[in-house]
Amino acid sequence: MTFNVGVIRGDGIGPEIVTEAVKVLDAIGAKYGHEFKYTEILMGGCSIDACGEPLTDDAIKAALSSDAVLMGSIGGNTSTSPWYKLPADKRPEAGLLKLRKSLNLFANLRPAYLYEELKEACPLRDDIIGDGFDMMIMRELTGGLYFGERSTVEEDGQLVARDSLTYSEGEIRRIAKRGFDIAMKRRKKVTSVDKANVLDSSRLWRKIVEEVAKDYPEVEYEHMLVDNCAMQLVKNPRQFDVILTENMFGDILSDEASMVTGSIGMLSSASLNDTKFGLYEPSGGSAPDIAGKGIANPIATILSAAMMLRYSFDLDAEANAIEKAVKLVLKDGYRTIDIMPRDGSTVKQVGTVEMGDLIVERL
Ligand code: IPM
Ligand code: MG
Repeated sequence: MTFNVGVIRGDGIGPEIVTEAVKVLDAIGAKYGHEFKYTEILMGGCSIDACGEPLTDDAIKAALSSDAVLMGSIGGNTSTSPWYKLPADKRPEAGLLKLRKSLNLFANLRPAYLYEELKEACPLRDDIIGDGFDMMIMRELTGGLYFGERSTVEEDGQLVARDSLTYSEGEIRRIAKRGFDIAMKRRKKVTSVDKANVLDSSRLWRKIVEEVAKDYPEVEYEHMLVDNCAMQLVKNPRQFDVILTENMFGDILSDEASMVTGSIGMLSSASLNDTKFGLYEPSGGSAPDIAGKGIANPIATILSAAMMLRYSFDLDAEANAIEKAVKLVLKDGYRTIDIMPRDGSTVKQVGTVEMGDLIVERL
């Protein structure tokens, strides 16, 4: 089969980590007899530099005409990069938000899994780690604070900034269904996270989640306040299976979940709509401080490519093969700098390209 993959390399470490994921895809293609055709798409700071805006209409069209899009990361240093002197809607992140919205990618899946081999990179105590944990953060991606009306105006002699947080029943229902569907394929537990003791949008969230839960009698579900969830992720991450939450809470909690699994360099993600199309990207950012040094961890992007094979192309065996190859490399003791063990036990530190090569070898 031939698959058309849009490729957004982006900024910072983006190009380096995407190169490794493409290398892995090509190896899969050769082994299983598929052809992946790539279309390069500009987005983020590199698009600002080349076209004057973070995402052009042509770029959106190119993404739309692909079967799926693989992305690295976008953005730069928010204190020093000239991109952040531009108005908010012209900055790199605006491109990503526009792409998510234009393609209606409302469901963001972020699996946080502790590899046996990475227990030593996990900052939590051994008695908390226990036999490890495996959770899926299901983040709503096209609503809430990220897409509400914004303004900064002068009132009574001072500046006042406003961001509005809106959710409709329909937006909540469709993500809740996705969350429960995924739970059915996992350990059948959903923790819906909100701030219902303060926010109206959270109270509606709870009501709709309860309605949706009725259609999934096999799934055990609970509500948890977001501040408590942030604490529970460190106190007892083993209690979680699917964490279902709104846009900004999901952004924050997924970074936290990634760190308890050892490193954000391991956390893949899939952003899906109602079709087979998806945008696949590591959950981490462009890490401008280490860009171009050849030390970034490409595993999150490689695992995102595996998610692409599974969710957009229905290539389960191929996705499993990538995940297995990643495990084998870790088992063989190879680590990028971000996942070095805290106890100094003997492993071999490798760079971005070497990590990609090692994974390809094991395919
Ligand atoms: C993420 C990122 C983005 C987000 C930024 C770059 C806009 O942090 O994908 O988690 O907040 O959604
Ligand atoms: Mg984030």
